[in-house]
Order: sequence, then C-alpha cells, then structure tokens
Amino acid sequence: MTPKRTVINVVSGKGGTGKTLLSCVLADSLGNLPDAETIVVDLDVFVRGLTSLLYYHRAERLRIADAEKLCVADLFVRKLKSRDSIAGNLAIAKYRSFDVMPAVSTINQVLEYDDIVPNNHREARDIVQNLLASIPEAYRFIILDSRAGYDELISATHELSDVSICVEEQDPISRITSDNLIAQLGTSSKTPLFRLVNKARGITALEQLEESPRGVTDLGVIPFDMDVLNSFGASNFWEEISRTLYRSALIHAWNRLSAKLDLRVDLPTNRISPVGSDWLESKAGMLSWRDRVYLIYGSFLAIAGLGYGLYGEQIIHIIRGEPLRAMSLFMGGVGLISTLLVFLRIFRK
Ligand SMILES: Nc1ncnc2c1ncn2[C@@H]1O[C@H](COP(=O)(O)OP(=O)(O)O)[C@@H](O)[C@H]1O
Ligand SMILES: [Mg+2]
Repeated sequence: MTPKRTVINVVSGKGGTGKTLLSCVLADSLGNLPDAETIVVDLDVFVRGLTSLLYYHRAERLRIADAEKLCVADLFVRKLKSRDSIAGNLAIAKYRSFDVMPAVSTINQVLEYDDIVPNNHREARDIVQNLLASIPEAYRFIILDSRAGYDELISATHELSDVSICVEEQDPISRITSDNLIAQLGTSSKTPLFRLVNKARGITALEQLEESPRGVTDLGVIPFDMDVLNSFGASNFWEEISRTLYRSALIHAWNRLSAKLDLRVDLPTNRISPVGSDWLESKAGMLSWRDRVYLIYGSFLAIAGLGYGLYGEQIIHIIRGEPLRAMSLFMGGVGLISTLLVFLRIFRK
C-alpha cells in the first residue's frame, strides 16, 4: 500500500522568520529521498518570496509558467472552487529534486490585493481544498509556504493540512506573535502544530542540535547562518546551503517531526565529510565547480610535472619499484595543492 500523502503547512506569527527558505530546503531534502516526490506551493501570493527565491536570479526565466496554466494567484483571483475547473491545468514547474507551484506566472505580475484575498473562511477553504485535491496524487509531500500572521487563508490551510510548523525567531516579539498564532489556530482545528526556532544564536556545532528540545511540540532550533543569509536567492545558493549547519539542523528537526507523527520518513544525518573535516569541507564548499575542475586537473599536472622535473627517470623507478613511496609523493602533492587553493580562496573572500 502506498503511504498517504502528507500536507505540511509552514506558518509564522510575524514575517521574515525564515518560512520560505525552510520550505525550499526541506523540499529539496525530502525530494532527494526515493519515493518521496515533493511539491512546494507558494501561497504567499503577494510577497511571492518562494517564487522569487527560486527563479529571480535566472534572468531569462522572468516567465515561470505558461500563460494558460494556473498559478496559485489565478485560483484566488478567479475564485476557482471546483476541481473540474483546474485539475490537469496547474502550473507545476520542476526544480532540482522537487517541484514548485509558483504564486504567479511572471515574477513581476501586478495583482489587485482585493482580488487575491478570499472573501470569507468558506471561500478560502473551498479554494485550498480544490487546490490540494487537484495536485497529482504522485506527490508524497506537499509543503505550503504560507504568509505570516493570521487570516482566513491561514486558518483554512491549517485545517486542511496534516501538520503546521510555526517558525519563530528567538526574540520576545517573535515569540509572542507565535504564541498568539498558535492559540488562535488551536481554536479552529485539531491539526497538530509544532514550533521551530530559526536564526538561533550561539550554535556552532552539530552536537548542540542533539540536545532535546524544551517541549513536546518543539522541533528544535536552526542556527543563524551568515552564509545562508548571503547566498539566499543567489545562483550558488544550493551549492552553499548543502553543507551548512542550517541544513543539518533542519534535518534534525524534520526527523523529530517524523517520529512524532509516525511518518517513517527519516532524512539521513550521518553524513561523513569526504575531506575528513567538516570545517575544511565547509570552506572548500566555497569553491565553484570551475575551480574544483581546475583543482583536480591542476593537481595531476603539478604532481606529474614536479615529479618528473625533480626526479627525472628516477620517478619511473619509484613508481615501479616503490609504489608506497610513489603514493606518498602523490598524496603529499594533492594535499599541498588543495590546501593552498582552499586558503587562497578563503583569504580572497
Ligand atoms: N537560519 C538563518 N540564518 C540566516 N539567515 C536566515 C536564516 N533563515 C532565514 N534567513 C534569512 O532571513 C530572510 C527571510 O527569510 P524568508 O525565508 O524569506 O522568511 P519568511 O518567508 O518567513 O518571510 C532571508 O534573507 C533569509 O535568507
Ligand atoms: Mg516567505
């Protein structure tokens, strides 16, 4: 039997807590698992942070979806409440390991605010229900990137989801707005609601993430990460984020959620650094793909050139007669060159 799909609603009391970033990185992590097709829906139609994050830097991709396909905004503007009107016609774009339903079909599309706000709770519920029912069944996970605060739409998405994750920051304002939202959502629906602290200060090591969270509805903390902030929306974003403590922390939080909901979809945490050191690896992660190719070719050329230059014919005898010595020469060369390159890159930054 195929497992039922899970709808995850990402909400927050105040804006800017990191819902959009979290939705994308979680989608990518889940989407990389076998049999865990994942789609993220940009429900924050006005701000459309997710649609911008994923597509804005691709200048040639100002148009995200075909004009005749339906984006999230179309559903709200046209108040599409019946499945017949949209099934098979949703704008769904492929993105790395997951799919995206964008808020709008062109990134700079102007919308009338009145048109995109549902008139009442009933209408909001009907539209979201229709949207969820029209998303192909092949998806194991649907992540809803909601807007901040409380309104009819948030209330409806919470009701229709399997779980809501409230993302908050560590400051008192964020905590209070989050308490308010959680209390309000709790009055209208029994959907489980969990808290996740983002942009936490003072976390520098993976071990700190393993400490148990404070309450049963807490999923833990995700550290503030300067590299994440800097690369948000940039073309090297995915390359940078994959190695961060941010991603590891998110995986920890997800695995807690998976255990609490008995989803049995765990993300792998035991990633072993291919260079033997997390620190060195995260620094080497700054290298672009071009630099990595140079590094590998450069190392081989340097070793061959220096080896022959320094030892002449002798190098052939060493390789033939003393393979251990040859290997140690080779490793020494690779180590020297990669260390030099990594340091050069760090200082240049
Ligand atoms: N853990 C983090 N460390 C550093 N910056 C973060 C972190 N989480 C989110 N951000 C940054 O905060 C800003 C707001 O994030 P975003 O995901 O757009 O929030 P929201 O969708 O809740 O409005 C973005 O610039 C993002 O890069
Ligand atoms: Mg957002």
